[in-house]
Amino acid sequence: MTANLFDVLRARRTIRRYTPEPVSDEDIDALLEAAMYAPSRMDRRPWRFIVLRDQALQQEMADALGVRNYLAEAPALIVVCADPAASPTWMMDISAATENLLLAAADRDLGAAWVGWPESAWWQPVEALLRRRIGVPDDIRVATVVAVGHPAEERAPYTREERFDVTLIHDGRWGNKRLP
Ligand SMILES: Cc1cc2nc3c(=O)[nH]c(=O)nc-3n(C[C@H](O)[C@H](O)[C@H](O)COP(=O)(O)O)c2cc1C
Repeated sequence: MTANLFDVLRARRTIRRYTPEPVSDEDIDALLEAAMYAPSRMDRRPWRFIVLRDQALQQEMADALGVRNYLAEAPALIVVCADPAASPTWMMDISAATENLLLAAADRDLGAAWVGWPESAWWQPVEALLRRRIGVPDDIRVATVVAVGHPAEERAPYTREERFDVTLIHDGRWGNKRLP
């Protein structure tokens, strides 16, 4: 495990190819634990999680979204759901949780991919599918799906030069930019 936060931040890349090796319950629980340390408005914690290890259903989800087969091939999916009645800021709250989850995956050398666009027509079929097939209630939103597995592709960690873009920063007043 990596000790340095910035090493983990830079190493977190979206991984869409996985070996067939299962992801252990211990790893899944560590990811979920990390997710649940996230901040949320008024500490409402509107996130709910479904752990899926069901290749047939995963294939149906990949087909419903028309995405490449990483959803079907991942040894596990973590479906991040939200209870909108618990918090109107559920989309932001679950995003914080999802990022924590991805960072924990990177820290454990697992590969993960975040998939989701809850307010789009594209997303509706997968939400309907999960209601129909595994009983997600009508008042719970399916917010994101995170594919998790042992990486079968390597992606280089980010560097500071690549990502730290001073032109995106305004000092004290919009338009006051630092010299690059
Ligand atoms: C809200 C959100 C939705 C995403 N949806 C998808 C998706 O549907 N399919 C996919 O392959 N990647 C998806 N991604 C991953 C992004 O494509 C990826 O984070 C981006 O290309 C940057 O690459 P990196 O994660 O390696 O830094 C999503 C990421 C976020 C934050």
